[in-house]
Formats: sequence, C-alpha cells, structure tokens
Amino acid sequence: MDGPVGPLTGPMAPTPTPARSTHMPTSPAIEALGLVKRYGDKVALGGVDLAVPKGTVTAVLGPNGAGKTTAVRILSTLSEADEGSATVAGFDVATHPTEVRRRIGLAAQDATVDPLLTGHENLVMIGELHQLPRREAKVRSTELLGQFTLSDARDKLAGAYSGGMRRRLDLAATLVARPEVLFLDEPTTGLDPRARSELWTVLETLVDSGVTILLTTQYLEEADRLADDIVVVDHGSVIARGDARQLKRQVGGDNIGVTIPDLSRLDEVAAIVGRVTGCDPITDRAARTVTAPTSGGVAGLADVANALAAEGHEVEDLSLRQPTLDEVFLTLTGSAMTADDDLADPVPQEVAR
Ligand SMILES: Nc1ncnc2c1ncn2[C@@H]1O[C@H](COP(=O)(O)OP(=O)(O)OP(=O)(O)O)[C@@H](O)[C@H]1O
Ligand SMILES: [Mg+2]
Repeated sequence: MDGPVGPLTGPMAPTPTPARSTHMPTSPAIEALGLVKRYGDKVALGGVDLAVPKGTVTAVLGPNGAGKTTAVRILSTLSEADEGSATVAGFDVATHPTEVRRRIGLAAQDATVDPLLTGHENLVMIGELHQLPRREAKVRSTELLGQFTLSDARDKLAGAYSGGMRRRLDLAATLVARPEVLFLDEPTTGLDPRARSELWTVLETLVDSGVTILLTTQYLEEADRLADDIVVVDHGSVIARGDARQLKRQVGGDNIGVTIPDLSRLDEVAAIVGRVTGCDPITDRAARTVTAPTSGGVAGLADVANALAAEGHEVEDLSLRQPTLDEVFLTLTGSAMTADDDLADPVPQEVAR
C-alpha cells in the first residue's frame, strides 16, 4: 500500500477502541512484533520487535542499509510487512491503516515539502489536506513557523531554504495535524553541527509536549541525547536495546583515564594503572594519557589515584568515563558505525581498548 500519510478520509469519526487497550491503559504507542520484510532474496527486516511507551522517544540506530527506513515505512502504513504485526496509537497498521494515518506524522528521509511553495504556503496546503478550514490552516502555519524559528522565512520559497531550515519545515509539516505519534527518519542527516543541535532543541520541546517519537539515526550522539530507549539494528535485526547507560554497560564497565604532565613517565604510570586495574592499559603518547577499563567505578578510580600518589606521580587529569556509544556499536557488531554495509564484518569481536 502506498500513498501519502494523513487523514485523507475525512474528519475523525468515532472509532472502536481495540479491546486490549481497555485492559492495558498503558499499552505502548508503537508496538511491533516479529516484523519481517523481504525484497526478493534480500531480507531487509529479519523479525524486529519494538515497544515505544506513550510520550517517550525511541531511537532506531543503525548504519546504512540496516533496515531503519523499512521499519518506519511499515509502521507508518506506507509498506506492508511480509510477516509479523504492528500497532500504532492502538490500531493495527495492516488492518486499520486509515486510523493509524490520522494519528501519526511522518518526516521521511528525503524532504517532502514542495520547493516551489513558500514555507507558509506549504504548511497551509498541508493543513487543508488535513481538512482544516483555510483560516485555521493559516493560523496553524503561523504558529508552527514561529515554533520552528522560520517566521522570517515564511514567504521565501522552500527550495531556497538551507538544509537545516528545510528539515525544520519538514518537521513543522508533520505537526500540522497535531499527531500523537511522530516518525522521523534520520531527521538530522546532512545537517551541519549547529543546525543539528538546533533541531535537537526543537525535538526536545516536542517531546515535552507529550508526543511519542520514533526516530532513526546513524548518530550515536543523537540517540544518546534524545532517546529514552535505543534499539540498535544491523542487517535487519535488533542486536541490542536499552537506554544509553545500559548499552554502554554492555561493553563492560567504565574507562579510567590518567593524563600526566611529564611524557617521560608515561610508561611507569601505565604500569601502575595496569597493576591496579588488572587490565592492559592503552597509552596515547600525543595526549600523554593512559586509559584502562575498570569495573570498580569510583573506588577503582580512587585506587588508581592512591597508587599514583604513593609513587609520587603528578597527574594533570584523572577521569572515569563510560564508553561512548560508538565503542558500544563496535563491540556489538565488530564494525564501526560508519562502516559501509557491505564491508561490515558481522562477527562480534571484543572492542579494542
Ligand atoms: N524497495 C526496495 N527494493 C529492494 N531492496 C530494498 C528496497 N528498500 C530497501 N531495500 C534494501 O533493504 C535493506 C534495508 O534498507 P533500508 O532503506 O531500510 O535501510 P536504512 O537503515 O534505512 O538505510 P539508510 O541509513 O541508508 O537510510 C537494504 O539492503 C536495502 O538495499
Ligand atoms: Mg533509511
């Protein structure tokens, strides 16, 4: 099934609430069970489960070709799964696509706004597509342009917007009909760091307003910043899930970092760190830093500090940090996040420390 997403079938009619939602008032806003999608021999999704509680953000994190867009297309009723089932806002995407469409907004991976209309005209048009009277559509557009700091650009053609502005307009467009559930497919890909950070701020405001968001991203930083839950996908399968802390913990503990002022003592310091932590430390001569994994938390850090002080070593910086999500991904998949799909080595291996 293909076509635009939106309430294209008239004003909201009284709709039967699925029986199970009366038993489960806190049922997830998005729930998927065993989604499978094949394109010929290619398995784009190999049985994916998802559960996104109302009012929360889940990030589907994965490299190119992982199956992120495929999952979003199924959940937003643009494509049908070969196996499995999903409900969005309480309705089955396969049997009640219209009900689902009335309640969702979708910002596809590629911009969908019309470049030959101004920002304001785009939003008014979308409002009218959603059956808003023209006057209300204009009010809603003005409101959203303000919210997305596009008021100054309201009468500029969308085709002349910068990448960041277009992404914000895309996002505004998905909100015209006040959806309960938002799907954002790589909302910040291609944006420069400043535009990305501006968009994150906007997304955080949206989350505060209570919508449920499923976003896809290739940026660990983005998942870490925005998501309550992260689902890591690779080659069509979920390879890990949890919040950022839990995922980082899967890599096995924190890293202790010691930076010293005197490079000539780096090897001595490395030996002490190795002895105390019982792990092989990594030395970075350029940064005059020794790092080693620890399962001892703050106590482990204190042990290292005490041992260094006892042997009279000066320390410039001493830190305890969780592994980055990049390191998590490396551990889980054996390949870096940015690796080309076809070159990725699917065999998990220990993260190099
Ligand atoms: N219409 C299609 N026909 C054939 N193969 C497809 C089609 N759509 C997706 N695929 C394949 O399914 C797999 C998953 O694609 P998908 O677009 O879901 O990945 P993605 O995680 O969104 O990647 P990206 O980060 O590049 O957007 C890929 O191998 C892709 O080539
Ligand atoms: Mg995609």
